[in-house]
Amino acid sequence: MRPFTGTRQDSARARDSTHPIRGPEYPAAVTIEIRLAEPDDAAAIRDIYNLEVETTTVTFDLVPRTLDEQRRWIAGHSGGHPAVVAVAAGEVVGFGSLSPYKDRPAYFPTVEDSVYVRGDQRGAGVGAALLAELVRLAAGYGYHSVIARIVGGHDASISLHRACAFEIVGTEREVGRKLGRWLDLVVMQRML
Ligand SMILES: CC(C)(COP(=O)(O)OP(=O)(O)OC[C@H]1O[C@@H](n2cnc3c(N)ncnc32)[C@H](O)[C@@H]1OP(=O)(O)O)[C@@H](O)C(=O)NCCC(=O)NCCS
Repeated sequence: MRPFTGTRQDSARARDSTHPIRGPEYPAAVTIEIRLAEPDDAAAIRDIYNLEVETTTVTFDLVPRTLDEQRRWIAGHSGGHPAVVAVAAGEVVGFGSLSPYKDRPAYFPTVEDSVYVRGDQRGAGVGAALLAELVRLAAGYGYHSVIARIVGGHDASISLHRACAFEIVGTEREVGRKLGRWLDLVVMQRML
């Protein structure tokens, strides 16, 4: 399998040839490239991530990242725990990563994924392309499964993962609290 490079329309078509492309209109010539994250991507990744930290419950982080922290995060996501970005028309429009599932060493065959797409770019196949690339990389590294930990009720992320062959394997009830709400955590898993 090769890394995904294609138009948004290609991505949508590859997933479901009958599904109309939702969201904004894109010129057919716009190509999405998924590549490994580089130090210069830090500001774009930070901006996409911090908006979710500050305004939503999709991440359990409470404090926005600084540029230095984001640079360190990219540096820490290399080798077997990579970060990738989606680039369209020269701009980073989304990112994803594979992280260790848990610290204790016997968990080494498992990784946890993360996918974020810029608000104005959603619904056009970017998230699916990022997740497909993360799964491809995880399989290539020889991991046994990929876990997604998703805030309860987050239909977009649950559907995104289900469409990529993840299954719900459990729910942790009211394990988090943010923006005045109790947060469930839905655990999804794809065996490789
Ligand atoms: C979740 C997220 C990554 C999806 O990215 P996206 O680029 O909009 O997703 P895609 O266009 O590739 O859609 C892929 C599939 O995801 C599902 N999906 C995406 N958006 C959806 C929505 N709003 N409602 C229901 N399902 C949705 C669908 O199954 C879709 O397949 P389809 O188009 O064939 O129906 C994006 O909404 C996002 O970045 N949200 C904020 C960050 C976040 O929550 N990240 C996940 C943390 S666990």
